[in-house]
Amino acid sequence: MKSVRILAIESSCDETAAAVVENGETILASVVASQMTTHGKYGGVVPELASREHLRAIVPVVREALERSATRLPDLAAIAVTSGPGLVGSLLVGLTYAKSLSFATAVPLIAVNHIEGHIHAVILEARRDGNPVELPALALVASGGHTHLFEVREGLQYRLLGKTRDDAAGEAFDKVAKLLGFGYPGGPVIDRLAPYGDPRAVPFTFAKMKGNTLDFSFSGLKTAVLRWVEARDMTAEIAGRRELLKQSPVPSVEEWLAVTPKRTMDLLASFQQAVIHELLTRAAASAEACGASSVIVSGGVACNSGLRAAARAGDFPWPVHFPSPALSTDNAAMIAAAAFPKLERGEFASLDIAAQANLTLA
Ligand code: KG4
Ligand code: ZN
Repeated sequence: MKSVRILAIESSCDETAAAVVENGETILASVVASQMTTHGKYGGVVPELASREHLRAIVPVVREALERSATRLPDLAAIAVTSGPGLVGSLLVGLTYAKSLSFATAVPLIAVNHIEGHIHAVILEARRDGNPVELPALALVASGGHTHLFEVREGLQYRLLGKTRDDAAGEAFDKVAKLLGFGYPGGPVIDRLAPYGDPRAVPFTFAKMKGNTLDFSFSGLKTAVLRWVEARDMTAEIAGRRELLKQSPVPSVEEWLAVTPKRTMDLLASFQQAVIHELLTRAAASAEACGASSVIVSGGVACNSGLRAAARAGDFPWPVHFPSPALSTDNAAMIAAAAFPKLERGEFASLDIAAQANLTLA
């Protein structure tokens, strides 16, 4: 088979990423420049700073991906780029750069939806590892910006079955961590600390959804955590953790344990358990509703070890595919993977394509 290389660029949120992927499944290079240290001190992504950091990183990141994969621009079959959804200023940096490269080299441009990228991260790895995703599949995409359930059919047709009506699952992790003084992003630190608490200690309840019962809502859970904190005097311990973060940007578990009482560990464990329960209950109901043969879980929250363990437990009857941690959070290899079938179908984008902050997949 003739080797087909795609250069992909991703800049929808706070990661500047470029990758070169061969034949839709061999990752020759995947470079991710994270802006975590820039946004960490603000407890969330600051859009203006994100655009500025993308501008700084885009040229070296793309150059590194080409160099590491020993690829020259004329070797490329296509240049793929995320056109949405995401922060418009961030998207524009990657999109404008990809268009310029395409214009200068006459290599065709392919526009990719970021959420489709997350789904393809899993499809790529599963196929490469000889355990392809069986279709129809139910895809749960849970990240800092999205919590969506899609039916994925042959021919890569998508149908939206449910989505969050307020906060995304990752956003709930981030807001709870910020509130409690654990910094940003919240998912990884809560994931690491949850095993030290009792997940049954704080009973969280979810309101019944009116209308589409496959939709999510996480803002009530966030408010419940806030009320729990307000009902206790936690000012000193929260200040202690903020102080720790100033001294050590990525504290060890031992350092966290030294400034966090057991009842707060219990709160973290119970909160994480509630999010996992919510995600998997609706994923199971959706998989049932569309007669799925398998389940895909992707997006940053797919890194969560509690979620992985629960989805692989015996009472979740579908085979579940997760991406490796490197392909769970934002990266460009997933954008190249999603672009490959578009290349085969000749679905190219014109050079006047716009960045779409609210682009939908289905
Ligand atoms: O996919 P991603 O890198 O960016 C978006 O498209 O939003 O996801 C980032 C989100 C953040 O909210 C982060 O807290 C969450 O994924 N996250 C996690 C974990 N690792 C990252 N959430 C729970 N457990 C984790 N281990
Ligand atoms: Zn993402």
